[in-house]
Amino acid sequence: MFEKRIIAVAGATGAQGGGLVRAILSGREEGFSARALTRNPDSEKARALAKLGAEVVAADLDNPDSVRKAFDGAYGAYCVTFYWEHFSPEKELAQAGIMAKAAKQAGVKHVIWSTLEDTRKWVPLDDDRMPTLMGNYKVPHFDAKGEADRIFAELGLPVTFLLTSFYWDNFIYFGLGPKKGPDGSFYLGLPMGGKKLPAIAADDIGKCAYGIFKKGKEFIGKTVGIAGDHLTGAQMAAAMSRHMGREIRYQDIPPEVFRGLGFPGAEDLGNMFQFKRDFEAYFCGARDLNFSRSLNPDLQSFDAWLTRNSSSIPV
Ligand SMILES: NC(=O)c1ccc[n+]([C@@H]2O[C@H](COP(=O)([O-])OP(=O)(O)OC[C@H]3O[C@@H](n4cnc5c(N)ncnc54)[C@H](OP(=O)(O)O)[C@@H]3O)[C@@H](O)[C@H]2O)c1
Repeated sequence: MFEKRIIAVAGATGAQGGGLVRAILSGREEGFSARALTRNPDSEKARALAKLGAEVVAADLDNPDSVRKAFDGAYGAYCVTFYWEHFSPEKELAQAGIMAKAAKQAGVKHVIWSTLEDTRKWVPLDDDRMPTLMGNYKVPHFDAKGEADRIFAELGLPVTFLLTSFYWDNFIYFGLGPKKGPDGSFYLGLPMGGKKLPAIAADDIGKCAYGIFKKGKEFIGKTVGIAGDHLTGAQMAAAMSRHMGREIRYQDIPPEVFRGLGFPGAEDLGNMFQFKRDFEAYFCGARDLNFSRSLNPDLQSFDAWLTRNSSSIPV
């Protein structure tokens, strides 16, 4: 009997992994099946994935044995780490190493590592354009992911390095949506100046990853980047105004002001936006829209995403 090729998905109950599991299951006839990794197979989200047809298995990325078992017999593995759960780049590096070793031992045929740039290649630690954070990083939640690329490469894994983009969902869930100013007007405040921010619907990351698994060999050993739109803050605010039925103005917040906003991760995000602003040509160029659409023909533009989600943006 024809055996389906299993794709083991880390973070399956989350944004990236969840999108991938749903994409695999909705393309069932294409020969792949989804194995969803979770620390808690009894959670509501895990049970919902099982109901859709995923094989749900217990795995903790801190526990090498559990990841080895979860990757056993898999054709593919989607590897992602969860910076915002622990704020530790070292933990991301350790978890990336555990997944890479498990993929090697299991003989996985295609690994996708969900990565981001090691910004220290553009802004070395002694460059004072932006502060060094945690002693060893410029953008901690980027740098360790980029540093971990080496771990996958050095093990000789058949890996695709997937450069993801800012989720528009952050306007709903991450407190980055428009805020009411002292003058009563609503402002979308971002430290992007007049530069474009490549961004994407979180759910589309998994759909693009599925496109990469389907194309197989073509992307092994390659770094590819994805985004759904490249828009300036002013363009995003104008689109929000159209969809949300009230005027939203763009406010350019200088990175040094953003870094001082005081919420957990504010410095990291301030540096991140500054990096994206100051290296706009590289950063947008690495995330081509036509290429992203070739992986995922349903790729949403910001306008399409707002049509579905603008009513969920808290104002
Ligand atoms: N927000 C953005 O704009 C953006 C953009 C690009 C990249 N990123 C990166 O995306 C990453 C997060 O991905 P996401 O947004 O898909 O995550 P998410 O939606 O926050 O989901 C996190 C999932 O990770 C699982 N998890 C956490 N710790 C785990 C562990 N020790 N072992 C196994 N599973 C664990 C949890 O599953 P269980 O509880 O079921 O175990 C949870 O469902 C971050 O590193 C972030 O830097 C974010």
